[in-house]
Amino acid sequence: MARLLTSLKIGNLELKNRLVMPPMATSRAGLHGEITTPLLQYYDEKTRDGYFGMVITEHSFVSADGKISFHQISSADNSMISGLRQLSDVIHNNGCPVILQLNHAGSGTKEEFIGSQPIAPSVVINPSKSNLELPCELKCDDIKRIISDFTSAALRGKQAGFDGVEIHSCHGYLLNQFLSPLTNKRNDKYGGNIKGRILIHIEVLRAIRNVVGNNFPILFRLGATDNMDGGLSLDDCITVAKELEKESADMLDISGGMCRYTVPDLEKAGYFIKQAKAVKDAVSIPVIVTGGIRTLEQAESLLKNNVSDLIGIGRPVFNDSNWVKQAMNNIDFETDTHSMSSPMSLRQNQLTAD
Ligand SMILES: Cc1cc2nc3c(=O)[nH]c(=O)nc-3n(C[C@H](O)[C@H](O)[C@H](O)COP(=O)(O)O)c2cc1C
Repeated sequence: MARLLTSLKIGNLELKNRLVMPPMATSRAGLHGEITTPLLQYYDEKTRDGYFGMVITEHSFVSADGKISFHQISSADNSMISGLRQLSDVIHNNGCPVILQLNHAGSGTKEEFIGSQPIAPSVVINPSKSNLELPCELKCDDIKRIISDFTSAALRGKQAGFDGVEIHSCHGYLLNQFLSPLTNKRNDKYGGNIKGRILIHIEVLRAIRNVVGNNFPILFRLGATDNMDGGLSLDDCITVAKELEKESADMLDISGGMCRYTVPDLEKAGYFIKQAKAVKDAVSIPVIVTGGIRTLEQAESLLKNNVSDLIGIGRPVFNDSNWVKQAMNNIDFETDTHSMSSPMSLRQNQLTAD
């Protein structure tokens, strides 16, 4: 039996297979972040054949000062719950469990979008994009308020029928800014070594768990490498993974940090597999890897080689709504995975992740 087609249980949630539609921003929400008809149509089209074991919706902003663009989805207000319910319904009606991604952009946004100077752990220009502005430093009270914003947004996701939430801590956004030594220069308990830099994650996780209960999955998307000098080390990444597991995270979703979701010059299959494999070896909760995986044969090979438990495939699906259907119809798992899972091809995959 192909690994890709095996089910996976996360608490009470049963995924029918290991294929994930990762979060991908569409800029189709209304000006205040409300769910629109084009957005519902988009998700209906992407999921209509019901092939995904799990869908993670694009990042929603948990508070107005964490908004990244004018047409981003909002989870920042109770008035959004009915629209979010429509979104979860569309995806559920197509037979896929759905997770709501929660984000605060921190210094990854601009005054133009939020009407004030962006906020961040430290007064450091965010290196994840070339055109970002100098942020102002968050005070401890602001951090408390942001934890509360994540918590309220998670509760809204639950009330809107989502099967879980994913906390965004990658691609250079606020929680990732706390995680990365490149952007966190704080001298208080939220900075310093990895235990300090991860503290806000743990406080967010505990606060959300407290309101959603034990049977509501909380995923973390982790910027597992910055791919920059002085960025997050693999050892620290593993510490983060273990701490989050200990603190009741249900799944870890591996992507990039300050390098965002690609690795320049490394656009080959699974360019975060080195980090995913290291995390998977260190924890027993499920791990997702996404990034550059372009065939189901590659996905199957990564699963067979225990690099991860689930595989995200993004841009091929973003560009072609029939991609999964065609790929599923055309794959011969037995024949194709034989060559992909040879020690040689695994080594090649590992090389691409270095
Ligand atoms: C247009 C676009 C929008 C994206 N938006 C998000 C997002 O909202 N949240 C997130 O965590 N990742 C986002 N990503 C990253 C994807 O989830 C994924 O990690 C990335 O596309 C790499 O995977 P792929 O090579 O399979 O496309 C986005 C990627 C693209 C191309």
